[in-house]
Amino acid sequence: MKKTPPTLSAEEFANRRRQLMDMVGPEGIVIVPSATLLIRNRDAEHPFRQDSDFQYLTNFNEPEAVAVLIPEREEGEFILFCREKDPKTERWTGRMAGLEGAQTDYQADDSFPIEDIDDILPGLMDRRETVHYSMGVNPAFDQQVMSWVNAMKAKVRSGAHPPHEFVSLDLLLHDMRLYKTAAEIKMMKHAAQTAVRSHERAMKICEPDLNEGQLDAEFLHEFKWNGMVPAYTTIVGGGENACVLHYIENNQPLVDGDLVLIDAGAEYGCYASDITRTFPVNGKFSESQRLIYQIVLDAQYAAINAAQPGNNWNAPHEAAVKVISQGLLDLGILKGTLEGVIEEEAYKEFFMHKTGHWLGMDVHDVGDYKIDDEWRVLEQGMVLTVEPGIYISPNPDVDKKWWNIGVRIEDDVLIKRKGNEVLTGSLIKEVADIEALMAKDKAA
Ligand code: GLY
Ligand code: MN
Ligand code: MN
Repeated sequence: MKKTPPTLSAEEFANRRRQLMDMVGPEGIVIVPSATLLIRNRDAEHPFRQDSDFQYLTNFNEPEAVAVLIPEREEGEFILFCREKDPKTERWTGRMAGLEGAQTDYQADDSFPIEDIDDILPGLMDRRETVHYSMGVNPAFDQQVMSWVNAMKAKVRSGAHPPHEFVSLDLLLHDMRLYKTAAEIKMMKHAAQTAVRSHERAMKICEPDLNEGQLDAEFLHEFKWNGMVPAYTTIVGGGENACVLHYIENNQPLVDGDLVLIDAGAEYGCYASDITRTFPVNGKFSESQRLIYQIVLDAQYAAINAAQPGNNWNAPHEAAVKVISQGLLDLGILKGTLEGVIEEEAYKEFFMHKTGHWLGMDVHDVGDYKIDDEWRVLEQGMVLTVEPGIYISPNPDVDKKWWNIGVRIEDDVLIKRKGNEVLTGSLIKEVADIEALMAKDKAA
């Protein structure tokens, strides 16, 4: 029997609102706008993706909505402004929850038409000292929020009491989002499993003269068949394209003897996975490719090993830098001493990005990396990627046999109370395993 995919309960969303409102307190008000629909060209729209903060608090998957949380407001604490249900519009652009659905399906205490927000919201701010709002993300909405405060200020002589302080909502909300609950981890594992299967699919099907776009299509196929979408634009870079970090054209033929680097992750219910694998187009690593690959793999193992509760955020990066620097010194690609190469950051010619980032509803998820100028300590419930790489573009100081080798290996790591769990750990990455899988498929 097919397993039921995980979902988040209404209680999970209610708990989040409760937790945030408890931190904000009765003096504050929280305002969070939805994402807006983006036009691709003329009448065609980009697929709608809800703003992650809004989604996290509401589960309400529509544009033109604003969530307002007003702690300890007697008439109701959670107010949703949204589009009114209109059967004619629904026939053209899809279903809407409407004002009633906002209450019955999304647990809003009250709901109002979005068109009425300018009339209603200033009154909701009355006697609230602090507005918690993410300023600077949406300039048009910033203007609107200021206009509500100004509307209140204009009524001071009639007894209105406008807020006196703006606080970035990110401080509280993004810290909450950084610590994943058990239910969120289930969502992330589900996304990770589909991403794992799609990378296996690409390894199995890959052969010389396929196009990068054809491998890209395999990912989309696997994601869509599992009710998911890409968490970000898939990168399929063959040969020298693997050395372009954000290569997304994905339209060149894959050449016999080259490596191909694929960075692709599925998003399920607004939760991301993020995996990179690099493998030979023809199924067999050349000697130079294998040597570089093994350094990156060893660096990744060292970094995952350093991703422990109690270690700081930068510990995995430091571990990766050490292994990569030593590896490049051993091959003669870098010259000097390990201390010198690290001190002068000479490794950055070949490993120019950090070893990872937070992962969650956003691929580069929210949450501070430093607190009071110190690297943050890793704690239970945080999820990060571990993704060292070596990229050798043509360079007169480097022997030609290394040119155009680009390797990155990326997995998603959950920090647990003790140790960690690699959510994408079932995807092979040892040289022998990759060669065996690719050979097996060709023989079949
Ligand atoms: N896929 C984006 C990243 O790895 O950071
Ligand atoms: Mn990543
Ligand atoms: Mn990635």
